[in-house]
Amino acid sequence: MKVISILNQKGGVGKTTLSINLAAALKSAGHSVLLVDADPQGSSMDWAAAREDEPLFSVVGCAKPTIHKTVADIGAGKDFVIIDGAPRVTDLARSCIMASDLVLIPVQPSPYDIWASQEIVDLIKEAGVFKPELQAAFVINRKIPNTAIGRDIKDALTEFDLPVLETTIGQRVIFAESAASGISVMEQDAKSQAAMEITMLAQDILNLLESEK
Ligand SMILES: Nc1ncnc2c1ncn2[C@@H]1O[C@H](COP(=O)(O)OP(=O)(O)OP(=O)(O)O)[C@@H](O)[C@H]1O
Ligand SMILES: [Mg+2]
Repeated sequence: MKVISILNQKGGVGKTTLSINLAAALKSAGHSVLLVDADPQGSSMDWAAAREDEPLFSVVGCAKPTIHKTVADIGAGKDFVIIDGAPRVTDLARSCIMASDLVLIPVQPSPYDIWASQEIVDLIKEAGVFKPELQAAFVINRKIPNTAIGRDIKDALTEFDLPVLETTIGQRVIFAESAASGISVMEQDAKSQAAMEITMLAQDILNLLESEK
């Protein structure tokens, strides 16, 4: 079992959007997946509740700072546990980090997001002392093509000394449209750019986990 947390102390960067779609992409690649909603706001649970079709994977709520102790039991038998993190709450973030093999940090191409990333990076570095095998990477979300800030963000993130995934996720309305009916972007439109980007993101993550630290 591999545990991937999607974390950022900043709100609204795409943690839930990427958690759901990454879980769906790993599932359709043939892996068994559990999605853990670690945000008291319960957005992943809301997504699952909006769905009319059979669930693609189970979604369970666990917004407690003991998740690092319970994850092995909750996720027993699954290939992947994806944890959708909460913004702001430090003890929850710490617990999610300690539960994880890989922490993904969504970041939008905006200086506010870049500055605000410092907080989660500090928590990851702190945890790395106890957990040297822990992997972490940034994923650029809501990129708008042909903008200077979209091009420059990768450079701006180098100061944090963590890898930035090659695949970036564009700003696309299909992410909100598909969420409204509790489906993934692949289900909404398998040929969409968003579906292709999410599939590539899942592949990047599998490669990263295979490379280990
Ligand atoms: N790539 C994208 N393109 C367009 N809209 C997006 C994209 N990613 C996220 N969004 C939208 O941005 C908003 C915030 O996204 P989301 O809820 O996934 O962020 P979050 O980090 O989970 O927020 P919170 O911190 O409140 O949990 C949502 O309305 C979502 O539909
Ligand atoms: Mg969320």
